[in-house]
Amino acid sequence: MAKPVLRIGIAGLGTVGGGLLNLLSERPDFAPAGATVTVTGVSARERTRTRAADISNLPWWDDAAALAASSENDVFVELIGGSEGVAKAAVETALRRGKPVVTANKALIAVHGAALAALAEASNTPLLFEAAVMGGTPAVKMLREAMVGDQVEAVAGILNGTCNYILTQMEETGRAFGEVLAEAQRLGYAEADPTTDIGGFDAGHKIAILAALAFGCAPNFAAAEIEGIDQVELLDINLAHDLGYRIRLVAQAERSEAGVAVRVHPALAPLGHPLAETKGALNALFIEGRTIGRIFIQGPGAGAGPTAAAVAADIADIMTGARRPVFQAPAAALAPFAAVDATHAVGRAYLRLLVKDEPGVIAAVSETLAEANVSIDSFLQKPVHDAGGVPIVLTTHATPESALVEAVRRIGALPAVLQAPRMLRIARV
Ligand SMILES: NC(=O)c1ccc[n+]([C@@H]2O[C@H](COP(=O)([O-])OP(=O)(O)OC[C@H]3O[C@@H](n4cnc5c(N)ncnc54)[C@H](OP(=O)(O)O)[C@@H]3O)[C@@H](O)[C@H]2O)c1
Repeated sequence: MAKPVLRIGIAGLGTVGGGLLNLLSERPDFAPAGATVTVTGVSARERTRTRAADISNLPWWDDAAALAASSENDVFVELIGGSEGVAKAAVETALRRGKPVVTANKALIAVHGAALAALAEASNTPLLFEAAVMGGTPAVKMLREAMVGDQVEAVAGILNGTCNYILTQMEETGRAFGEVLAEAQRLGYAEADPTTDIGGFDAGHKIAILAALAFGCAPNFAAAEIEGIDQVELLDINLAHDLGYRIRLVAQAERSEAGVAVRVHPALAPLGHPLAETKGALNALFIEGRTIGRIFIQGPGAGAGPTAAAVAADIADIMTGARRPVFQAPAAALAPFAAVDATHAVGRAYLRLLVKDEPGVIAAVSETLAEANVSIDSFLQKPVHDAGGVPIVLTTHATPESALVEAVRRIGALPAVLQAPRMLRIARV
C-alpha cells in the first residue's frame, strides 16, 4: 500500500529552511512509520536569491501568511524568525485555521508562547518547536514528554553556541573579546548584528521556553534577568583559570516556594565540570528532577543539519496524531511564573579588583567585605599590572546577592581601589 502524503509549506529559506529542504529532498520518507513528505509551497523575502537548496520547481509565495492559509499544505513550517511581524502573523493564521505549525523561532515562543498555545489548543492543533532550543539536541521533547512523570526543580546550561565559541576562543588563543567576535563574524559563527547572541537575549529566549516546559507555566521572557558576555575580559578568563574555573554564559531557571528565578549571566564553572568542558559551539543542559535526579545532555545547538533534523522530528510527531499541551500544562492553566527577585538569590562570587600597590590595601578590602557580611573563600594576588595597579582576585562563600552588591559598592569607594570591581557569579553546579 502506498504511504500517505503529508504536504508542507515552508516560510523562511535561510540556514534552517535550506537545511530542511535538503533533508526532505534526500529523505522524503524519513519518518519510518509515517507519511511521505512533499513540499507544496515556499516563501521568503527575495525570490531570486541564491539558496542552499534548489527551489526552482517549488511553488513560490510572496506572503508567508497566505502560504500559512493555503489549502495546498497540511502543515505550516515557520523558519523566518523574530517575535513580531511576518513570522507571528503567519503562525497565527495557520493556528486559527487549525493547521499544525512547526517552528524554530525561539523569540516568538518565548514572547508570545502562551497566547499561541491558547490559539493552538482552541483549534486542537499542534504547535511544535523542538528546534527552538538547542538545535538538534532534543531538550524540548525531553522536558515536555520524558520528564512529565517527575517534578523538575531546576534547569541550567549553555544555550548559545556563539557565546560559547567566543569564550572558548578567547581562552585558547589569548585574544580579546572584540578580536574574537570579529573573527566569528567573518567565519559566519556570529551574526552581522551580534547583539541577540552576545547580549544574552537568545539564551534568555531559550531558558524562558525551558522554564515554561519544566514548570508548567507560561513563558515569561520579560521576567528573565539577562547579562551577556560583552563585558567578559581576557584577564578574567585567565584569572578564573588560575583559580580552577572556566567562564561560561550560563542560563538557568530554578523553582522555589517563592516562584521561579530565570537568569542568564556569565558564570565560573569548575574546571572538569561538564559545563566548563563544553567547548566551542556546543550546547549543554542539566535537568534536575525531584526523583529522577540529575540528567545532562550535550550536543549541537545550531546549524542547518542539526536544526533541520529537529524540525523533521516535529513533522514526524504530527504524522502520529499525538496531542499534548503546548507547554506541559493546558493553555488555560498557564500563568506567568512569579519572578523571584535576584537579590534573594544566594551564591558564591568572584571579585576582581585593581588596587594601589601599597600596604594595608588587602586589610581594607577584607574589612569592607566583613562589614558587608561577605566571607572570603580564596584569594589570589597577581604580580604588578601594567595599568599601574595590582590585580587581586577573590572568591566568596555563599552570600545573598544583596550583600555582594553592597560589598562591591563599598569596595569600589575605597581610595586604594583604582577601578570599579568586576563581579562574576560562580555557577551553582
Ligand atoms: N541558524 C540556526 O542554526 C538556528 C538554530 C535554531 C533555531 N533557529 C531559528 O530558526 C529561525 C530561522 O533561522 P535561520 O538561521 O535559518 O535564519 P536566516 O538564515 O536569517 O533565514 C531567515 C529566512 O527568513 C526569510 N525572511 C526574513 N524576513 C522575512 C520576511 N519579512 N518575509 C518573508 N521571509 C522573510 C529570509 O528570506 P531571504 O532568504 O529571502 O532573505 C530567510 O530565507 C529563527 O527563528 C532562528 O532563531 C536557527
